[in-house]
Amino acid sequence: MQSWIPFPESASTLSSEVDALYLYLCGVTLFFTLLIYAVVVYFVIRYRRRNPSEIPRPIEGSIKLETLWSVIPFLLAMSMFAWGAQIYFQNSRPPKNANEVYVVGKQWMWKIQHSTGQREINELHVPVGRKIKLIMTSEDTIHDFFIPAFRIKADVLPGKYTTQWFEATTPGRYHLFCAEYCGMNHSGMGGYVVVMEPKDFDNWLSGNANQTSPAAAGQSMFESLGCASCHGANGEGGRGPALLGVFNSNVVLSGNQTVKADEGYLRESITNPQAKIVNGFGPIMPSFQGQVNEEQLLQLVAFVKSLSTAKPETVTAKPPPASAKPSANATGTPK
Ligand code: CUA
Repeated sequence: MQSWIPFPESASTLSSEVDALYLYLCGVTLFFTLLIYAVVVYFVIRYRRRNPSEIPRPIEGSIKLETLWSVIPFLLAMSMFAWGAQIYFQNSRPPKNANEVYVVGKQWMWKIQHSTGQREINELHVPVGRKIKLIMTSEDTIHDFFIPAFRIKADVLPGKYTTQWFEATTPGRYHLFCAEYCGMNHSGMGGYVVVMEPKDFDNWLSGNANQTSPAAAGQSMFESLGCASCHGANGEGGRGPALLGVFNSNVVLSGNQTVKADEGYLRESITNPQAKIVNGFGPIMPSFQGQVNEEQLLQLVAFVKSLSTAKPETVTAKPPPASAKPSANATGTPK
């Protein structure tokens, strides 16, 4: 988008699409504004009262005209709806092969961790041309993660995970903001996204190596919190349901409802285990609410996800310890 209009920079696969839709909305608005003003002026002159005793002709109405001015706006409104919905769905469904980045908001900073372990505060380094999925939560109040140059923005809520994704198209440094008033230093709660060539990004990653990946950190927490005494050291199940391959599977609950085991479900099962009891198990698990903070919760979730059978990892990663590797024929839900 060039600068005769004061648009923010455009640096993601989504931003040009959002801009095109926005220009279409502006174009339609401008067209009808001008049309209506022109017609008003024309009618004022054309149909003005020419002498004081003039009485206007009665008007019968016109089916043709009324149909026209109902159908055309309807089609225009539907085109906006369809186009907007298409972009909305594309934006709200992160692709399966995206690199995952964990984001925790707190008053007043963004704590970011890559799936390879690197941590950042108020900065996010990403490679150009790769899909990045953000898994976000808050330690206190509602924040909102907003990168104008990518045209993405989503609330970051305490007690649950929200996600958004992007694919950056141009290397550079782009502002990121908190876009939800969250207290005194809300306006300072921002930073930069640094988009790098893949080669530079790999250098950056290896320059910040030697950090425990969230999955590995989650595994040691899994052991130290004693989760293994019920779920098995490698997630194979026992008094508690097997965790091997559970992520993204459909879990059958007592009462025979089925629930998709996404990040939110895993989180809830740690903080509020009684909420959804897996079919065939008793409500014996204690809550870990308050014993683990949001970052640790994300690490536990990352560990359980690493127990899944199919987990594409495109970043050069230090793999989780061999004991965390799932066997190839692992299945999800217990009977
Ligand atoms: Cu965080 Cu505003």
